[in-house]
Amino acid sequence: MWTNYVDISKLIDYCQKFILEAHIQIQIIKAIDQMQQEAKRLLQTGKAIAFVPTMGYLHEGHLALMREGRKHGDTLIISIFVNPTQFGPAEDFQAYPRDLDRDVRLAESVGVDIIFAPEADAIYDKAYQTYVDLEILPLHLCGPLRPRHFRGVATVVTKLFNIVKPQAAIFGEKDYQQLVIIRRMVRDLNFDIRIIGVPIVREPDGLAMSSRNTYLSEDERRSALSLFQALQQAQKSLAQGMRDARQLISEASEMIRSYPYTKIDYVALCDPETLEDVDRVEGPTLMALAVWVGKTRLIDNAILKP
Ligand code: PAJ
Repeated sequence: MWTNYVDISKLIDYCQKFILEAHIQIQIIKAIDQMQQEAKRLLQTGKAIAFVPTMGYLHEGHLALMREGRKHGDTLIISIFVNPTQFGPAEDFQAYPRDLDRDVRLAESVGVDIIFAPEADAIYDKAYQTYVDLEILPLHLCGPLRPRHFRGVATVVTKLFNIVKPQAAIFGEKDYQQLVIIRRMVRDLNFDIRIIGVPIVREPDGLAMSSRNTYLSEDERRSALSLFQALQQAQKSLAQGMRDARQLISEASEMIRSYPYTKIDYVALCDPETLEDVDRVEGPTLMALAVWVGKTRLIDNAILKP
């Protein structure tokens, strides 16, 4: 009887260890050729790949994309790569937060199967010279203020698509212009990939989640709320009948300027597909904001509906 009990407790230990190990089966791949081979193998066995590209330092916004990704494939792959070609020379490429161990734990918690985390010099070797550039969409919003940013994004996303070979890829509406650009690029270049957009995930007080929020001091964090407040103000004024874009923009800008440490890059009202400015809000319209809070540049947006 007693021996049986010992055996059962050993069995329970063994089962627990097995469950734990079965749970920790996330694979981290750093080499490009290994990732390509693994993707090919998955496709040959009939597994659909869902893909979430990120620059890491994951937060709930990224995790929402991954949870969505689980619904669109048998294997969920994410990439973690701080892409140098999408940062300007005076931007925060060096300072961008990185913590792979933390990211692995978070990715595991939402059921990611593979993390592709390449080195920069493997993605861009010394003789690198091929870029993907769109003609018109990058002329709007962040484009003029961040020259070459979207060229860097379109290029790295193309490369990641070729390496990971997904059937579906998930992007956040937080980077609205990026999402519109990726959708256009996928159509233009005939990528056989479904692009899925996920709504912005916010902190309880409304601040859009971002890896860059970690740069904010306590005082700046309070001012960062001005972006969400401005979007809410615009929606309210619209509901009260204000339709003139200039008036709505000037009201939103005033709201932002009333907070310390803020400096506006742009407040725009534009067509959600072409990103062209509108004069009047007659249908669903994108309000997009880029605001410096101290030394941190934040973006936010909302589709306003009259
Ligand atoms: P990153 O800023 O890490 O964002 C990765 C993805 O998460 C993007 O699709 C972004 O829109 C989404 N995301 C970020 N914050 C979000 C939030 N609060 N709510 C919902 N989604 C959110 O965007 C990039 O990286 C890069 O440009 C990349 C596409 C990886 C190319 O380098």
